[in-house]
Order: sequence, then structure tokens, then C-alpha cells
Amino acid sequence: MFERLKKMLKLSIIYIWVLIVLSAAAQVSHLSSDQAGPAFWGLVNSAWNLCTIGKRQSPININSSQIIFDPFLPPLRLSMNGKTVHGTMHNTGRHVSFRLDNEQPVNISGGPLLYNHRLEEVMLHFGSENGIGSEHLMNKESTAGEVQLIHYNQELYSNVSEASRNPNGLAVISLFINVANNSNPFLNRMLNRETITRISFRTNYIQDLSIEDLFPETFGFLTYQGSMTIPPCYETVTWIIIDRPLNITSMQMHSLRLLSQNPPSQIFQSMSDNFRPVQPLFHRGLRGNLDFRKPGRKCNGANYKLHSKF
Ligand SMILES: *[C@@H]1O[C@H](CO)[C@@H](O)[C@H](O)[C@H]1NC(C)=O
Ligand SMILES: *[C@@H]1O[C@H](CO)[C@@H](O)[C@H](O)[C@H]1NC(C)=O
Ligand SMILES: *[C@@H]1O[C@H](CO)[C@@H](O)[C@H](O)[C@H]1NC(C)=O
Ligand SMILES: *[C@@H]1O[C@H](CO)[C@@H](O)[C@H](O)[C@H]1NC(C)=O
Ligand SMILES: *[C@@H]1O[C@H](CO)[C@@H](O)[C@H](O)[C@H]1NC(C)=O
Repeated sequence: MFERLKKMLKLSIIYIWVLIVLSAAAQVSHLSSDQAGPAFWGLVNSAWNLCTIGKRQSPININSSQIIFDPFLPPLRLSMNGKTVHGTMHNTGRHVSFRLDNEQPVNISGGPLLYNHRLEEVMLHFGSENGIGSEHLMNKESTAGEVQLIHYNQELYSNVSEASRNPNGLAVISLFINVANNSNPFLNRMLNRETITRISFRTNYIQDLSIEDLFPETFGFLTYQGSMTIPPCYETVTWIIIDRPLNITSMQMHSLRLLSQNPPSQIFQSMSDNFRPVQPLFHRGLRGNLDFRKPGRKCNGANYKLHSKF
């Protein structure tokens, strides 16, 4: 009698599992890649399974007490073919993105990077409220947004797609965004009203942006090995997180939130909250070029400035 009951119980548990799996599959199957939430990325497409099973995924929560001070990290070096760049602003349906023209290459090196990396794209993540929006968290806190400068290793690879799949392929520099009464000059250009209006239904060409403007006067950074925060989540990214945030005005934030994931002829769906939730750190280390555990730490000196060459 008891044995039979146990067997029945077992069978019904299996049955419930089958139901759960089937209904999850049914839910997933009609979602396109962009609509499926980050939790489903690994399930909708087997080529994206790193998103689910990877052990070096991004973004992460940065616990400042776990950052190891590395006094030998060199400063970041920016090298450009002229002072400004041109490129095209896009609404990709998931992000606001500025893609550089090929004519004025911008290289970054130094910091943790062993190779020259070429800037490919500047991508924005932002939230529906000021307290959320950044992908990375600092001591469990998010900010209104995050700017990511995506570079690829041009010494080893011929383009960003090849680099993204291979070791030491990508370097992403990340800056947090805060809502304030003033705005970073680069973001000011990128998010002016005309550009934002135009990218709601087409792309917009922008000239003479200075990448250098994105960097604070002095700053510390921390670095870790992680992944792309969009599918296929390849674990080929050296992340460099700058410790000083950029400012953006609430007007600019508002206009970002009015961008839709869909074309204007379709239903409005705000692009905001386009961040991936934080992923487990597992056994990865965080290194910083200054001591993040010291309260009131200052970052003065040549090591804490961007070294630019035009
Ligand atoms: C960028 O780096 C590549 C590869 O190291 C080099 O060939 C190129 O001259 C550099 N460009 C600039 C503007 O520094
Ligand atoms: C940060 O790490 C320390 C030491 O591992 C731990 O005590 C603390 O709770 C962590 N804080 C957060 C916000 O995760
Ligand atoms: C990128 O480079 C690889 C290897 O050289 C090449 O096969 C591929 O077609 C290139 N992709 C693009 C988008 O240019
Ligand atoms: C950003 O805004 C804050 C608060 O309004 C201000 O204290 C800070 O100086 C601003 N940063 C820059 C780089 O302008
Ligand atoms: C911006 O300025 C207004 C009025 O001048 C003030 O009330 C508000 O606190 C300021 N906000 C920030 C973030 O500095």
C-alpha cells in the first residue's frame, strides 16, 4: 500500500515536471530573441547557451571591498587619428548605439590590456527610473544608466565579430550615468533633441565628437574578465569600469525613455530597462588601479588621467 502510494507520488511529480517544461517551452517558442527576457536567452537559441551555463558572465555586482589594489596597472591610453570622430546613431530596438566611421580609428591600450583595441561602438543602457538602468552594480547599487565603449582587438582579429568569439577579443570601458543638472559634453551631443527625434525612426549621422570628452579629468578604474551582456554572451571581454560617473540631465533621460523598441507604425514599447541582470562572480578576481577600500581615497597623478595622443 505504502509502496504504491510512493510510486503514484513519484509519477505525479514527473507529470508535473513535464507540464512545467512543456509550458515553458511553449512560452519560449513564440518569443523572438529580442522579446525573450535575459533569463531565456540560453533557451531560445542553443548557440546562446553560454548565457545560461557560462561561468564568467557579465554584468556583475562589484563589491568594492573585494577589489585588489594593483599598483602596477598602467594608465589607459587613447590614440586617435585627429581629435574628433564621426559616426552614426542607431536605435537598434534594444539599445541606443553610436557606431564609428572607419576613417578615424580610435585605439585604446594600457590598463589591463595587452593589445591595442579599436573602438567600434558606444552603447547606452538606461532605466525607466533614475535608480535603475546600469548593468553593473556598485555595492548592490545601480545608477540611471551605463555607457559602454566597445573595442575589439585589432592586432589579433580583423573585425569585431571575429574578435567577439575569440580569446582577448573585446575590451569594454564602462561609465555609470547619473541624472544631474548638467550633462557630459559627449552625451550632450549624442542626445541632442534633433538626434533623438531622428533615431526614433531612422539613423542620424553625427560629426566631430570627441571620445576624450567621455572620460573624467581624473579617475580610477577596476577590471575583471567577463562576457558580452547581450547574446551570444561570449566570454571574451576585458571589462574596465571607471569609478566616476557621467552626468546627464533629466530632460535627456526623459527623451531616452520615449524611444520605442518598435517602429513608429507599431505599438509603443519603451526601450528603457535594457540592462541584463547581474550574474554570479564565481571565482573571478577584481583588480583596481587604486585602493577602493580606503575611504576618502583620491586619485591624483598621471596614473589616474587618460593619456591621449591625437
Ligand atoms: C591603432 O593600432 C593599430 C594596431 O596596433 C595600429 O596599426 C594603428 O596605427 C593605430 N592607430 C592609431 C590612430 O593609433
Ligand atoms: C562584500 O564582500 C564582503 C567580504 O567578502 C562581505 O562581507 C560583504 O557583505 C559584501 N557586500 C556586499 C554588498 O555584497
Ligand atoms: C570578419 O573577419 C572574418 C575573418 O577574417 C571574415 O571571415 C568575416 O567575413 C568578417 N566579417 C565581417 C562582418 O566583415
Ligand atoms: C555631476 O553632477 C553633480 C551633481 O549635480 C556635480 O556635483 C558634479 O560636479 C557633476 N560632474 C561633472 C563632471 O560635471
Ligand atoms: C538641480 O537644480 C534644482 C534647482 O536649481 C535643485 O532643486 C535640484 O536639487 C538640483 N538637482 C541636482 C541633482 O543637483
